[in-house]
Amino acid sequence: MKKNRIYLDYAATTPVDPKVTKTMLPYFSEKFGNTMSLHSFGQEVKQVLEESREVVAGLMKAQATEIIFTSSATESNNLALKGIAFANKDKGQHIIISSIEHPCIMESAKWLEKRGFEITRLKVDKCGLVDPEDVKKAIKKNTILVSIIHANNEIGTIEPIEEIGKICKERDVYFHTDASQSFGKIPIDVNKMNIDLLTASSHKMYGPKGAACLFIKENVKIEPLLHGGGHESGLRSSTVNVSAIVGFTRACKICEKEMKKEAEKQIKLRDKLIKGVLEKIEFSHLNGHPKKRLPNNTNFSFSFVEGESLVIQLDLLGIAGSTGSACSSAKLEPSHVLLAIGLKPQEAHGSLRLSLGRWTTEEEINKVLEILPEAIKKLRKISPF
Ligand SMILES: Cc1ncc(COP(=O)(O)O)c(C=O)c1O
Repeated sequence: MKKNRIYLDYAATTPVDPKVTKTMLPYFSEKFGNTMSLHSFGQEVKQVLEESREVVAGLMKAQATEIIFTSSATESNNLALKGIAFANKDKGQHIIISSIEHPCIMESAKWLEKRGFEITRLKVDKCGLVDPEDVKKAIKKNTILVSIIHANNEIGTIEPIEEIGKICKERDVYFHTDASQSFGKIPIDVNKMNIDLLTASSHKMYGPKGAACLFIKENVKIEPLLHGGGHESGLRSSTVNVSAIVGFTRACKICEKEMKKEAEKQIKLRDKLIKGVLEKIEFSHLNGHPKKRLPNNTNFSFSFVEGESLVIQLDLLGIAGSTGSACSSAKLEPSHVLLAIGLKPQEAHGSLRLSLGRWTTEEEINKVLEILPEAIKKLRKISPF
C-alpha cells in the first residue's frame, strides 16, 4: 500500500494479503504442472487443486464436489444465468433478478432476453432491500431461476437471502446469489440459506485476481459456457489457474479465521465514519440500510456536489474512494442502484462510496473526517447548483 495514501476502495478490489502471495509463489515455478497431466508434475498440483476445492467449499458449508473454479465473478455469474437458462429452457423461460444486480447479471439477463427469455426485475425499497413477498408473487409456472445479489456492491445492503431461498425451494425454482462482496466477510451457509448456486470472488477478499468460483448444488442442471478438455467436471474447460486458486484458498483460510474479529473492527470504524460524515457535512445522506449492511461499506450522497469531481479531489488529497461501483464508475450515467433506491439522477451523481478493509485504521478514518468536509465545502463553492 502506498505510504501516506488512504485506500478506501476495498469493494472495487483488495490488495493481496502478503501471506497469500507467499503461498502462491511456488506455483509459478516449482509446482507449475498441468492438472490434467498424468506425470507427477501434474498430479501433485491436481491434489492441491482438490484440497483447495475443499477449503473454499468449507467456507460456505458446501461439498468440495459442488465447487467449480472460474476466472472471475463475471464468469461465474454468466455461467449461472446462461448455463441454467439453456439447460432448463424446456421447463420454462422465465428468470427473476433484482433491479440492483451487478452489471454482469444485468447484462447477462438482457442478453438472454434478446434470445427469447422473459426477465422480471424486482424493485427494491429505499434501503435497497428486496421484499421476499415480491419474489413469491413474481414466481410463475415457467420460472426456472431467481438470482438476487447477497450484498450489494455499491450500497452494501444485505438481502434476506435465507427467506428468498426458502420460497424458491418451496416453488422448486433454482436460486442463485452473487456473493462476490459478502463471501469471506459475513457467514454463509448454502444449505441453511437454501442456495442452489453461489458466486464468490478471490480479489474482493485479499486473494489474487483471476480466481473465483461458482457453487453448484448437487443435481442442479446446468450447461457449460466453455467447451474443451473437460476440466472442472466438464463445466469449465480450460487449463486450471492453480497459482491463483491456491491464493484464493489461502485467502479463504485467513477470512475464516479472522472474519468475526475483522467484521467487529470494521463495523466500529464504518459507524464512526458514517456518524462523523453525517454530523460534519450539511446536506449529506447515507445510502443503503442503516443496519443490514456489509461491515466495510459506506455510501453517501452529498447535495450540490458531483461525485466524479469529489473522487478526483479526494485522490489529490490522498484518499481513494469511488462513485458508484468500480465497473460502472467509468460511465457518466447515474448508478442504476442509486436510481433503484429512489434517488433523483442529480442526487445519484453526488454519491461517494468509501469501503474499508483489513488494513484500515482509526487514524485514517479521523483523517478522512478532517479532509472530506473541506473537500466538499470547496466543491460546493464552485458548484453551478
Ligand atoms: C457484486 C459483484 N458481482 C460481480 C462483480 C464482478 O467481478 P469481476 O469484475 O472481478 O468479474 C463485482 C465486482 O465489482 C461485484 O462487486
